[in-house]
Formats: sequence, structure tokens, C-alpha cells
Amino acid sequence: MSFAVEDGETVLAAGLRQHLALPFGCQSGGCGSCRVRLTAGAVAYPFAPPALSQAEIDAGYILMCLARSQSDLTLELHQPPQLDELRPRKLPSRVLSKRMLSHDVIELRLKLPKGDALRYLPGQYLDILLDDGRRRSFSIANAPNGETLELHLRVAPGGKFARWVLDEMPDKAILRLEAPLGAFYIREDSSRPILIMAGGTGFSPAKAMLEDLLPRAAQRRVHLFWGGRAQADLYLDAEVRAWAARYPQFRYSPVLAEPDAGWAGEAGFVHEALLRAYPSLSGYEVYLCGPPAMVQAGKRAFLAAGLDADHLFYDSFDYAFETWPQLG
Ligand SMILES: Cc1cc2nc3c(=O)[nH]c(=O)nc-3n(C[C@H](O)[C@H](O)[C@H](O)COP(=O)(O)OP(=O)(O)OC[C@H]3O[C@@H](n4cnc5c(N)ncnc54)[C@H](O)[C@@H]3O)c2cc1C
Ligand code: FES
Repeated sequence: MSFAVEDGETVLAAGLRQHLALPFGCQSGGCGSCRVRLTAGAVAYPFAPPALSQAEIDAGYILMCLARSQSDLTLELHQPPQLDELRPRKLPSRVLSKRMLSHDVIELRLKLPKGDALRYLPGQYLDILLDDGRRRSFSIANAPNGETLELHLRVAPGGKFARWVLDEMPDKAILRLEAPLGAFYIREDSSRPILIMAGGTGFSPAKAMLEDLLPRAAQRRVHLFWGGRAQADLYLDAEVRAWAARYPQFRYSPVLAEPDAGWAGEAGFVHEALLRAYPSLSGYEVYLCGPPAMVQAGKRAFLAAGLDADHLFYDSFDYAFETWPQLG
């Protein structure tokens, strides 16, 4: 397929204008969802692409949302087979339930409009569209069931939307969404063993992936490393331990940065725990999700440990766009 890019237009804007189903998320260089490999041609950026590590740049990756073409370009893009059903669209949802999963994580369950099943791949995320035109991104925490969406919201100090949900949201509130977004989903055309590293509510997309994958893919080995400060941050630890007991292909390593007294598990940075278990990552497929600092540290360390950039996928839980003053 080919498409034309106007002068000054980003590659992503040009593709979307011509109705191509391209992967994207933040549109501001932060999330890496629009990462594709450039196999020929040259692009220019307004500033260094924030989501890309040097190793990804060296491997030929560009961010379509920032890149402007300097010549004809040839791009290599992973497209899921269900591409046409996965175009992002706007739709309303009704809040079904809200409960605390831990001292600072809310589980929100949303009901989709009847007869309007939203298609998405486990791991993808949605944007909540706020009344003032702002957006908030949250990963979908359940595998598709045609009726409900589950979200895990961390209530950060000063966080506007999650605080509103906690303190002020009316029962049965209607929330407007745009979904599905992002390119964080399990590559089914690969048979490599999967390592997933999640930090805090980065468990949310991992949960959707695992709920979908574990019951139907007994041959694909998966090891989840879930990091938190203390045990209370691993807010569904018991459920994940139950999966590890039920599915022989699945292993689970919880990792605490500030272990509680008596903790017998892994301690320290979660990416270092993963590297202790897998010092060489060639031959693996790695999925990272959670706080930006954790994703950046993991990307750097894993590529240095021999991971092929083509088998590295991530969702960096950046703050909403207006908290990025340097890019505004
Ligand atoms: C693809 C993607 C998926 C995500 N999935 C999830 C998820 O599943 N669960 C989840 O909990 N989060 C997720 N996030 C992160 C979430 O979207 C952001 O943290 C979002 O900002 C939360 O909205 P809020 O209104 O609650 O907090 P906000 O009002 O946006 O504030 C968030 C944090 O930013 C700080 N902040 C505010 N303004 C500034 C500023 N100017 N400079 C520096 N810091 C500032 C606040 O103090 C607070 O700690 C995801 C993000 C992305 C990009
Ligand atoms: S859409 Fe390009 S980095 Fe987020």
C-alpha cells in the first residue's frame, strides 16, 4: 500500500487523513504506539523522539506521529489480521461498578452500548474523553467479552480524573471513550516464549493478555514479572498466583522495591529481577507496561542483553498530554 504525505505533515497525520488503519496513541511522541521500521528514505523530527531508545533508532525505528518525510519512504509495519475491525471510534459507556483494589487503585467496570460490541486486542487501551476536550488514557484490563470493559485507575496525588472518579463521579455515570488504541498486544504470528514486565497498574493490560492467552495457548510459555513498592501494590496477586498454579506454561514472579517484613520473594528493580532469571534475551519476546521510568530502564537493559528490537513491545504510562509542558 502507498500514500502521499504533504509538506510539513507528519507521516501519521497523512496516513490517517487517507483513512489508513495505522497504530497510534498519544500523538505526541511519548507512548511509542506509532513506532514503525523505516527501511528506505529519511525523516526529520521537530525534537528527538522521546519514546525511542538509541538502540531502537539504530534498528531503524521511527515515530510516525512526529516524523516528517525528507524523501520517499518505505515503512515496515506489523498489522494484525483483524485490522479493519480495530479502527478507533468514539462511543459512550455506562459505569457499572467501582471498587478499591488497593489503597490507591480503583477498578472501574463499564457497560458498552447494547448491540455495539467494541472490538479490541487484549493489551490495547482507551481514552476517556473529558468534557473540556482533554483525554485520559487507560489500558483495558479484561479480555474482550462483548459487554463490559474493566479499568484499573491509580489515584495519583494531584491526579484529576482518578480523584473525580473516587470522590465525585455519580452512580451509573456515562463516560465517553475513544477505543481501541495502541499497538500493545501479543504477536500471535510468533512462537517465542513471552516475558511480560509490569509495574503497578501496568498489570492492567497484562491481565487482559493473560486472561485471553493462558486458557487457549498451552504451548506458548509466559513469565510475568510484576513490580510494586510493597505487597499492597500487587493488588491482584492472589489471582495471578492461582493462574500460575492452574497453567503449567505460566510463571509468575512478584518483585518488591521496598519489601515488607518477612517477604521471601524477589526484591529491587523489576527489570533487574527479570535479567537475573534471563541474562540473555535473544530468542525471547518481551512486553513492558507501566511507569515511564520503568519502561525506559527495561528497554535499555533488555536491548543490551541481546533482545531483538523487533520483539520488544511496550506501553509507557505517561501522564496526560497537558502534563508535558516541554512538548506543548
Ligand atoms: C497508553 C497508556 C495507558 C495507560 N494505562 C493506565 C492504566 O491502565 N492505569 C493507570 O492508572 N494509568 C494508566 N496510564 C497513565 C494515565 O493515563 C495517566 O497517569 C493520567 O495522567 C491519569 O489521569 P489523572 O487525571 O488521574 O491524573 P492527572 O491529572 O493527569 O495527573 C497524573 C499525575 O501527573 C502529575 N502531574 C499533573 N500535572 C503535572 C505537571 N505539569 N508536571 C508533572 N506532573 C504533573 C499529577 O500530580 C499526578 O501525579 C496510561 C497512560 C498511557 C499513555
Ligand atoms: S502516537 Fe506516536 S509516540 Fe504516541
